[in-house]
Amino acid sequence: RYRKTIIAGNWKMNKTASETKKFAEELKRLLPRTKWCDIVVCVPAVNIPAALKAFKDLRVSVGAQNVFYEKSGAYTGEVSADMLKDLGVKYVIVGHSERRQMFGETDFSVNKKVIAALEADLHPIICVGETLDQRELGVTMELIALQVKSALAGVPAEKARRCVIAYEPVWAIGTGKTATAQQAAEVCTFIRATIRHLYGARIARSVTVQYGGSMKPSNARELLAELDIDGGLIGGASLEAEQFIEIINAAN
Ligand code: G3H
Repeated sequence: RYRKTIIAGNWKMNKTASETKKFAEELKRLLPRTKWCDIVVCVPAVNIPAALKAFKDLRVSVGAQNVFYEKSGAYTGEVSADMLKDLGVKYVIVGHSERRQMFGETDFSVNKKVIAALEADLHPIICVGETLDQRELGVTMELIALQVKSALAGVPAEKARRCVIAYEPVWAIGTGKTATAQQAAEVCTFIRATIRHLYGARIARSVTVQYGGSMKPSNARELLAELDIDGGLIGGASLEAEQFIEIINAAN
């Protein structure tokens, strides 16, 4: 493989700082000594310092779940890319469907956030995915192309290779419904083809494309066996150390 396999947990609005510490202790007990994939845990912004401390010895990277695109200023409640970078954060989720649906994120703001994250040397995990209505209308691929191209607009090739794209069909998030490995692979392959059109084969080969949406121990192995699925963005199952480890093992 030319690219990294990345298993990332998205904790969403879950766990306090003390619970983060407890999780890290459990994970430490269960973590295999050799692991081939990169492991990331994306925690609520306020718990980033606690997570960095707790995961320090585990070779687990800490990610944020959102970032604002301005550098500084009068933006009450927002967090900049430089603030994340300065703490020691490596990854940041951008454009999760929950943020698009509930917090007014658009392809336009996602693009600005991707650019800001890359400028601060963070790796954006860019989320794309169709709703059930869109899938049934038969516009999934058009929608995915639109989201991927908009997110990467103005991003030069040498920076694009540092992006992770997470394909998360909205209908599979938190619903227990997973895309079949074939459905997921079809879109992930299409995402790579879209990147190939934008940046050429070499960059397309090196970009990690994850699947997310009810990924769990029982389906992880089959999903991760697909050539174009290079990891997972895991919500619910990343909250339990035992389940998270099983998914990590499925990627190894
Ligand atoms: O970012 C993670 C996704 O929203 C998946 O969440 O695994 O709970 O379905 P889930």
